[in-house]
Amino acid sequence: MHHTRGPIFDDSSAAATPAAAPASRKIHKSLNESEPLLRVDNLAVSFDNGSGPRIQAVDGVRMSLYPRQTLAVVGESGCGKSVTAMSMMHLVPRPPGRFDRGRAMFQTDAGPRDLLMMSEREIRTVRGNEIAMIFQEPMTSLNPVYTIGDQIMEAILLHQRVTFSEATRIAIDSLLSVGIKDAEARLRAYPHQFSGGMRQRVMIAMALACQPKLLLADEPTTALDVTIQAQILELLRDLQRTRQMGMMLITHDLGVVAENADVVCVMYAGRVVEYANVFELFGNPMHPYTRGLFASIPKVGELRDRLVTIADVIDNPEAFRSLPGAEQGVRPWWPWHEPPADLTARNEPAGDYYLQEVKPEHWVGVWRTKAVQEHESRPPDLAYRIADDPSRAASAP
Ligand SMILES: Nc1ncnc2c1ncn2[C@@H]1O[C@H](COP(=O)(O)OP(=O)(O)O)[C@@H](O)[C@H]1O
Ligand SMILES: [Mg+2]
Repeated sequence: MHHTRGPIFDDSSAAATPAAAPASRKIHKSLNESEPLLRVDNLAVSFDNGSGPRIQAVDGVRMSLYPRQTLAVVGESGCGKSVTAMSMMHLVPRPPGRFDRGRAMFQTDAGPRDLLMMSEREIRTVRGNEIAMIFQEPMTSLNPVYTIGDQIMEAILLHQRVTFSEATRIAIDSLLSVGIKDAEARLRAYPHQFSGGMRQRVMIAMALACQPKLLLADEPTTALDVTIQAQILELLRDLQRTRQMGMMLITHDLGVVAENADVVCVMYAGRVVEYANVFELFGNPMHPYTRGLFASIPKVGELRDRLVTIADVIDNPEAFRSLPGAEQGVRPWWPWHEPPADLTARNEPAGDYYLQEVKPEHWVGVWRTKAVQEHESRPPDLAYRIADDPSRAASAP
């Protein structure tokens, strides 16, 4: 393979503060901000496992995401975060994958549509246009043999009715908007000429060139060092503020969650175990698994003989008897425990589980016991955005 030799562009050649994106014409219909942009209801996705039983990657997943909102999806590796996001864009390979059940209602320019039901032709008009995705490792989504310019332009020309020179302008603007200086020259560079942080900026520029309404960011900064990670996340926050964009931010880093999320969705073993706004979730975690996650983070200045592990919390039976409604038998769902004796599981997949609003605007995954027997399952619905919260907006950066 022959590459043009050239300089490596690293983050020292990025502007500290990105240039404000020049007023680009709006290409999507304005959104109704009081309606969820995306509403996932009862999503179940499984994978063929040869002769063994299918792997149920996610089951009964419910979440809502509003315009301008950042919904952080957290949980350990393998809990179903990527499968959830990739299902929205039909990027789960099918087969071996399969959509078993569920709906993913999205406010398209042509009105609400179920993404899961779209044909491949329909989803292609949404993907990279109304919805964009950025991944952990940009090298896998940038093609090494094409220039950065070719790759950004391709996405623009595919979805926007613009001339070549207009597309060039949009590509330059989007590089500038992610803080890449001298953007015109950079269009002619190849991916290998960029450092990891700069490639991540390029991928974000590509994702944002079409002004998506929804950005699915799957561990967008995990591979980057802490300083660059902070810059990229700040950049995403800035861009989000100036657009109506909603963002699903997938991460296992609770520090990233604390600094970026409006709402947090904690997943475990393919299900949602807790869902609340970021202040409520950090201040008052209720599922033992979430409590374990927080307990296992060392705090500065705190002396401990040893770190508390998630197991220390999870193994304590008392931790499972403290939810609001516990006296009536409301118990956190936990796949490693025997279900409570008064389980009234429905005869359906994930029928042993229910996402209960245990207090206003705070949901916990619980066993479908007698106490919640009659409750109808619905996606958790939380329009909360820090930027609109008068008691918090002042402290937001
Ligand atoms: N292409 C695939 N084939 C088989 N199993 C898969 C595939 N993709 C994901 N899975 C399974 O789905 C589950 C959830 O995976 P994933 O969503 O990637 O987890 P996360 O992103 O939370 O780390 C895992 O058990 C994983 O093994
Ligand atoms: Mg993943």
